[in-house]
Amino acid sequence: MRWIVGLISLLPAAGLQAAPATQVAWTKETLALVEGGDPQRGKELAKTCASCHGETGVGLSPAFPNLAGQLATYLYRQLRDYKDGSRQNPIMQGLAAGLSDQDMADLAAFYSRQAPAEPAGKAGDFQAVLALIEHGDSKRILPPCRVCHGENGQGERIDTPRLAGQPQAYLEQTLRAYRDGSRHNDVYGRMREIAKQLSDEEIQRLAAYYANLAPTSRVSLAPRLPTTETTALALLDFQGQPRRLSEWRGKKIVLNFWSSGCQECLIELPQLGEIQKRYGDTGIQVVGVGLDDPQKLANVVRSLDLPYPILLSPPEQSAFLLRQWGDPSAAVPFTVLIEPDGRIAFRHIGRLEAEDLAELIAHPPASGLDNALAAY
Ligand code: HEC
Ligand code: HEC
Repeated sequence: MRWIVGLISLLPAAGLQAAPATQVAWTKETLALVEGGDPQRGKELAKTCASCHGETGVGLSPAFPNLAGQLATYLYRQLRDYKDGSRQNPIMQGLAAGLSDQDMADLAAFYSRQAPAEPAGKAGDFQAVLALIEHGDSKRILPPCRVCHGENGQGERIDTPRLAGQPQAYLEQTLRAYRDGSRHNDVYGRMREIAKQLSDEEIQRLAAYYANLAPTSRVSLAPRLPTTETTALALLDFQGQPRRLSEWRGKKIVLNFWSSGCQECLIELPQLGEIQKRYGDTGIQVVGVGLDDPQKLANVVRSLDLPYPILLSPPEQSAFLLRQWGDPSAAVPFTVLIEPDGRIAFRHIGRLEAEDLAELIAHPPASGLDNALAAY
């Protein structure tokens, strides 16, 4: 197969270098292992953990995170990360060293099924951080916490943990650890990149917010500004309508990031149109994400008569969006194939020809399967 990595356009500096992160890859086998974890056996194993994490995973002191109600996949990955040293903590590394993959899956199955801790529910002055949580801060390229951690801090999809009800001291300490890089097992350095931009005061208030957050005590917020949303979770289309990638869940999604100033992109776009026309009936959906000026993007789309939807990224957030999808260099064109179950089958930087793309869709390279699930 020909891999054409021609003149790639670079978006403004992304500033993130790949740093050592988790070694766990979400292959089918690993997902099946975690999904098939035995909670009964996990309960037995959890007796060793109860002196700190409590019988059901509600921590006995503010230094011990709650495990109850946490996503099983997240728990499993943290244990693997402690075991191989991707996440460092003397106590937990020592304990994880003695656990097999099966033990970890069983423990994760047990804790994820327990009722989460009641958030402390104390009122506080959260106005200052609500803007960050709800809207992010485009000047700092900070995406809103809620797009990943969920409206109520309940955690989302595979590797984004529940925050609601975690002890404030733990949340503060772990955000500081991301900020100074001592915690570095987050995929693509997303949390490190975010925490680096937070002040001490913001960290303290964010931690207080999530520690106290109960769905019912949630402050009601001003109407959303959809244009400040930063991830492909919700982007606007040319008609100004919010569109979500989840609209196409169940299909094979070919997600293509491009900009109007990128020559290679302009050559590639008609090839993607070809794919949509040829394979649209077979459950394949091409979705474009335009990264620069909407007017310029619209001109291109009109002149090429593209037969698939284009979503618009706020230009100042494009570098972050690319990084979030696994293109830390922010080079385009950049294409991600998402399987019907949300797993990412491959990512590719650079132009692809229709034939090569068709072949990649039919037979994704084994090595292309990496850590992530798509952020729908
Ligand atoms: C002696 C106290 C202690 C014991 C016993 C203990 N832990 Fe922990 N655990 C901690 C501390 C402290 C942390 C936070 C460490 C850090 O900051 O990385 C932690 C973190 C974790 C995390 C990461 C949570 C998150 O939100 O990221 C998991 C998962 C975990 N422990 C599972 C277990 C399991 C399973 C056992 C039993 C096999 C266990 N722990 C036993 C003290 C303990
Ligand atoms: C782009 C998605 C994304 C955004 C936005 C995001 N997070 Fe995270 N966050 C994650 C992921 C993924 C993890 C798990 C990383 C790991 O494995 O270390 C995480 C982990 C965390 C943890 C560690 C939880 C634990 O149990 O140890 C905290 C605390 C946290 N995030 C707080 C925040 C706050 C506060 C914000 C907003 C300022 C935020 N996050 C924004 C994706 C995100």
